[in-house]
Amino acid sequence: MNLFPIKVHPKEHQDSEIIQEIDDLISLLNETQDWSSVSYMSPNAMQETIHGTHSKQHLLQLFKKHLMPKLTSFLGEEIEEYVQSISQQVPDSASAYIEPLKGGWEISQSWINICPKGKNFVRHTHAGQTISGVYYHKTRPEQGGILFYNPNPFAKMCLWGCEEEGIYFDPVPQSVILFPSWLEHQTEPNRTDDPRYSIAFNVHLP
Ligand SMILES: [Fe+2]
Repeated sequence: MNLFPIKVHPKEHQDSEIIQEIDDLISLLNETQDWSSVSYMSPNAMQETIHGTHSKQHLLQLFKKHLMPKLTSFLGEEIEEYVQSISQQVPDSASAYIEPLKGGWEISQSWINICPKGKNFVRHTHAGQTISGVYYHKTRPEQGGILFYNPNPFAKMCLWGCEEEGIYFDPVPQSVILFPSWLEHQTEPNRTDDPRYSIAFNVHLP
């Protein structure tokens, strides 16, 4: 029996059309110099998003501004599967106190990270959100992945074989990782001269 499990959902794809959509997006951003949907650490980020991941984050609407049907379809399938997997049945004894999920979800924010050499996101959560995700585009391990911190104080006692600090994921190309928005995480620095492209988003469950 797993009581209070934390589910993280990594998934790769092999769809060349998704890769093409993101290549086209990056070309368009460079061509138009429209940096309104990039994260604060990215070169040319808007002033409003310059002071932190969560500052004015509602302004970041990459998927509404740049339609990428293949990518959003892939993400949608994975989000749906993730939502189903975390929707646990409420025990009868608790049903008076815990409202079950109503069903449905929407991507409330989305943005692209263009992470230059030496940069990384420090430890943070996506406060006020439900599910968060990051999608890696053509990345290499040296470009830095993501570290999830262990939130369980008992696991931090190194009991039951749990990691004390956290679990690190390489930035596997053409893959998404979904996780609870409250789960603390940080990214490792990009150690290459090539920018690391990733697309991040938050999901709201009504
Ligand atoms: Fe984050």
